[in-house]
Amino acid sequence: MTYSQILGTGAYAPKRVLTNRDLEALVATSDEWIVSRTGIRERRIAAEGEDTSDMAVVAARHALAMAGCAPEELDMIIVGTISADMPLPSCAALVQAKLGARNAFAFDVAAACAGSLYGLSIADRFIATGGARRALVIGAELLSRLVDWTDRNTCVLFGDAAGAMVLGPTEDSARGLLSIHLHSDGAAADILNIPGGGSRTPPSVDMLERKLDKVHMNGREVYKYALRVLPLAIEEALSANGLGVGDIDHVVSHQANLRIVEAALERLGVPMEKCWVNLDRYGNTSSASLPISLDEANRAGRLKQGDLIAMMAIGAGMAWGAGLMRW
Ligand code: ACO
Repeated sequence: MTYSQILGTGAYAPKRVLTNRDLEALVATSDEWIVSRTGIRERRIAAEGEDTSDMAVVAARHALAMAGCAPEELDMIIVGTISADMPLPSCAALVQAKLGARNAFAFDVAAACAGSLYGLSIADRFIATGGARRALVIGAELLSRLVDWTDRNTCVLFGDAAGAMVLGPTEDSARGLLSIHLHSDGAAADILNIPGGGSRTPPSVDMLERKLDKVHMNGREVYKYALRVLPLAIEEALSANGLGVGDIDHVVSHQANLRIVEAALERLGVPMEKCWVNLDRYGNTSSASLPISLDEANRAGRLKQGDLIAMMAIGAGMAWGAGLMRW
C-alpha cells in the first residue's frame, strides 16, 4: 500500500511586526486584555504590494528546497486560503506561475482556518492512489486586508503569513499520513463569516459602508464550538488507527487562540508541552497556522522519525478536522 509522506516544510511571515501596544493606539484595547484572552503578543502585516501568492511562493520555495524537489516535478498545488489575491483565478494558479511549476494542476480550497488540513487530505488521497507523485500544499492568508481595523473584537486576533508542505509517496507503513478526518457544519455559517463581496452582496458603496467585506465573528460561539468538536475529532482519528491519547508525541494545531488549544488538550489529557505554540508571535494566521507550526517544530529538531503527530484545525464554515501522521 502507498502512503503519503511529508518531504519538506517551509514558512514565511512578512517583516512588519504589529504589537499589542501598537494596537492600543488604534482601538480601545490593551496588551493585558489581548494576552490574557488569546495568548497573542504580536502579529505580522504584509507590505504594500505584497500579495498572498507572494507569501505562498516564499514558503513553498523553502519546502521544495528541503524536499529536494524542483518546481517542474510538482504534479499538483493546493492552496488553502480565504484571502486569495483576487476572486478569479485561484491563488494556486498564480503560485504555479510564479514558481514555474508548469506540470502541476493547481486549485484553492476554501475551508478557512482548516484549509491546509483539507488540502493535506486531498493531496494524501491523490498520492495514495497514484494520481500524483509530488504535491505542494500551502496555507496562505493575508487577513490584515480583510479585518476592520476599528473593530477590536476581530482586528487584534489575525496576522499575515504562509506555510507549505511537499508530499510524496512511501511504501513504508511505519511513516507518513495515517488518516485525516474532516467535518463541516454549514448551519453554523453565521458565527464567523465575511458576508459581503460575493454573489449575494456584490461590492457596492453601501456594502463597503456597512463593512460587509470584513470578518464578522461571534467570538464566544466560535470558542464554544471549537472546544466541543476538536477533542472529538482527535479521538476519532486515534480510534480509526487503533491508537490512544498516550501514543501522541506532538500536537500540531491551528492556533486561533491559546485558550482554545489549552482547553482542547486538557479535555483530551495531552500535556501542552507536546504542542508547538507560536501564536504569541503570529496571531491567528488561519490556514497558514498549521503548516507554519509544523515547519517550526521540524526545523527546531523536535520531530524524530517515527514520532506520532496529531493535527487539528477548525475554521469558518464551520469546517474542522483532525489527522495523524508518523514522522
Ligand atoms: N480589547 C478589549 N476588550 C475587548 C476586546 C479587545 N480587543 N475585544 C472584545 N472586548 C470586550 C468586549 O467588547 C466585551 O465587552 P462588554 O462586556 O463591555 O461587551 C468584553 O471584552 C468581553 O468580551 P467577551 O467576548 O466575553 O470576551 P471573551 O472572554 O469571550 O474573549 C475572544 C473574546 C478572545 C474573541 C474569545 O471569545 C475567543 O477566543 N473566541 C474564539 C474566537 C477566535 O479565535 N476566532 C478566530 C477565528 S476562528 C478560528 O480560527 C477558529
